[in-house]
Amino acid sequence: MMKNCFLAVFAVVALANAIGNTPTPFIINGTQADEGQFPSLVVIYQVANETHGIPICSGSIIDDFWILSAAHCFLDKKPEIKFFVVAGSIDSYVNETIYDIIEVRNYPNYTKSQVDLALLKTDRKIVETDLVMKADYTWKRIEIVDNCTLAGWGKKSTTSDEISQYLRYINGSTIPTEECQKIWSLKPDVKITQSKICVQWYEGGHSAEGDSGGPLLYDGKIIGVLIGGYPLERIPSIFERVSSHVLWIRRTIKTA
Ligand SMILES: *[C@@H]1O[C@H](CO)[C@@H](O)[C@H](O)[C@H]1NC(C)=O
Ligand SMILES: *[C@@H]1O[C@H](CO)[C@@H](O)[C@H](O)[C@H]1NC(C)=O
Ligand SMILES: *[C@@H]1O[C@H](CO)[C@@H](O)[C@H](O)[C@H]1NC(C)=O
Ligand SMILES: *[C@@H]1O[C@H](CO)[C@@H](O)[C@H](O)[C@H]1NC(C)=O
Ligand SMILES: *[C@@H]1O[C@H](CO)[C@@H](O)[C@H](O)[C@H]1NC(C)=O
Ligand SMILES: *[C@@H]1O[C@H](CO)[C@@H](O)[C@H](O)[C@H]1NC(C)=O
Repeated sequence: MMKNCFLAVFAVVALANAIGNTPTPFIINGTQADEGQFPSLVVIYQVANETHGIPICSGSIIDDFWILSAAHCFLDKKPEIKFFVVAGSIDSYVNETIYDIIEVRNYPNYTKSQVDLALLKTDRKIVETDLVMKADYTWKRIEIVDNCTLAGWGKKSTTSDEISQYLRYINGSTIPTEECQKIWSLKPDVKITQSKICVQWYEGGHSAEGDSGGPLLYDGKIIGVLIGGYPLERIPSIFERVSSHVLWIRRTIKTA
């Protein structure tokens, strides 16, 4: 155990130097999802031109008009940049339902507060089907649990921008905040507070990370939103803890 932690710390430093300061999470292996297994999951695209979008992050449908995602996906984006989401498919080329995003609400003072959450409003009411559904989130603070799940399209490899055609998922266990702080401590810009959740992925084909903004699901509910990680084994991914921010979520949805 000690040996693993020690190695992990050095792996973080090596990769941080290689890729600069931006963690780049994505699912590398994982298990292919069944149809309708993650009906609340969407892919968020940035509009490039009339015919093309660029996938930037994942999100979750949590209300009639609202998608929950991560604020860093929308930081430094010019106001004229448009986004849309694709829902309802495990195959990114089939059965797409598209909703345009008309408003992006980042958590107030995101860079200072370091609460990496965003809410996106759709242009029309999201129609629920067998393949498109809202997910619940919880007020309850979840501590240490096994078999929590992250789903996402991710990228095909660390060197490619190409998105995986099929939705995939990985499972892991949440770990104590202090343990996570130790592993990440050599990156001072990553602050792991009690309002974050760290997850260690299980080995064996689903070792890496998932798309930013994607949900951490436990017992059918969203407990976290993916905000950071490294595409290396044994490095825990970091999630924003949804239960710490339910008031902001509720208030934003109600008043918008
Ligand atoms: C992903 O799976 C492939 C094939 O099973 C394997 O060779 C590779 O090591 C795995 N990658 C990771 C990061 O686990
Ligand atoms: C639209 O954007 C895509 C992706 O950036 C690009 O490949 C394509 O050539 C663009 N098409 C036009 C008509 O500009
Ligand atoms: C597309 O939707 C139809 C009808 O719900 C379903 O039968 C089919 O399997 C779906 N295909 C994919 C790839 O999701
Ligand atoms: C955000 O920061 C501004 C300026 O620093 C401050 O006036 C405002 O109260 C802050 N808002 C929140 C919600 O913290
Ligand atoms: C995760 O769930 C699978 C399938 O239900 C089970 O076989 C496995 O033991 C669980 N893993 C942990 C760590 O609880
Ligand atoms: C992942 O966790 C879910 C939820 O507990 C469980 O149903 C599933 O069997 C697990 N999958 C694997 C591959 O362990």
